[in-house]
Amino acid sequence: MVILSLDENKLQELLGTFVNDFGATFHAAMVVIGDKLGLYKALAAGPMTPGELAERTSTSERYVREWLASQAAGRYVTYDASAGRYSLSPEQAFALTDENGPVFLPGAFEAALAAVKAEPRVAEAFKTGEGVGWHEHDPSLFSGTERFFRPAYAANLLSSWIPALEGIDAKLKEGALVADVGCGRGASTRLMAQAYPKSSFVGFDYHAPSIGHAQKAADEAGVSERVRFEVAKAKEYPGRDYDLVAFFDCLHDMGDPQGAAEHVKKSLKSDGSWMIVEPFANDDVADNLNPVGRAFYSASTLICTPASLSQEVGLALGAQAGEARIKKVVTGGGFSRFRRVAQTPFNLVFEARP
Ligand SMILES: C[S@@+](CC[C@H](N)C(=O)[O-])C[C@H]1O[C@@H](n2cnc3c(N)ncnc32)[C@H](O)[C@@H]1O
Repeated sequence: MVILSLDENKLQELLGTFVNDFGATFHAAMVVIGDKLGLYKALAAGPMTPGELAERTSTSERYVREWLASQAAGRYVTYDASAGRYSLSPEQAFALTDENGPVFLPGAFEAALAAVKAEPRVAEAFKTGEGVGWHEHDPSLFSGTERFFRPAYAANLLSSWIPALEGIDAKLKEGALVADVGCGRGASTRLMAQAYPKSSFVGFDYHAPSIGHAQKAADEAGVSERVRFEVAKAKEYPGRDYDLVAFFDCLHDMGDPQGAAEHVKKSLKSDGSWMIVEPFANDDVADNLNPVGRAFYSASTLICTPASLSQEVGLALGAQAGEARIKKVVTGGGFSRFRRVAQTPFNLVFEARP
């Protein structure tokens, strides 16, 4: 055995990272359980003992006691040792129970926990180079993704992303035709439809179960007169006179994003606009080696890269493509103008014009 000389400080640093990650891996399931069983929402009512929370949620006190301790250790819940009661601070309640708020966290864990179930298939795909389609994942990925992304759309889409596009807010107010391509369960489509009552919207996605859910949710939201959903691929969706085509966090998932760009151009009016929302990324790997990049590169390895490899061409941009590669795909598809119009710590927003 070779005895290496180790830097004790560097080893301790790595072990510190490990302890956090080891706990976080288990913690994902704890958050999903707390969300699913209404434990966070019930706890938001005020300080409780494990028994009181169990009674309110019709759950077993022994399980709830263990779960609460895990939550307090992870600082998702506050523990008052002298009273033996647990509670949510206003910030914890906001982030863990307000599904319509801008920072709702449980959806992200629902998506992550669903994605890691694909590990055996993805590990196999590393050896063969084959893809794993979006539709092949555990169904919680579809609901988790919607619940993870929707808060960011609710916080930014209407107030900053659409207003940043040239002339689009005015067109939507007057009455425009919009295609939301790769719309998933249609959260972005519904938000736009509710904000712009004179405009009409069509959501397209190749994944039939997501389209079924999107249509049902639009019916329930009372916008189905102006909103419809159709199963269609990004290179094949119908229509030639859209004022706006929007792609929310899906261009990089496609096998042939340049082919999709060519199709978008054909489907737009001559003065139309293409809005592309992508995960935040810098152009160089070295500049993405941070906590957000880590989450996105890992999600990309499990979800986005195999999804693209499962389709024709299989360009596999990955979730951390960055502006330069997205621009290459968009201009390669025939668009003459391309610019970054907005960004958040998690998203880049681009506008392309014919
Ligand atoms: C990460 S999800 C984003 C869903 C939705 N836009 C949102 O923001 O919640 C990516 C979506 O792209 C869709 N997709 C992937 N490849 C596609 C293709 N070639 N044509 C149409 N949709 C596609 C998937 O079915 C999935 O719904």
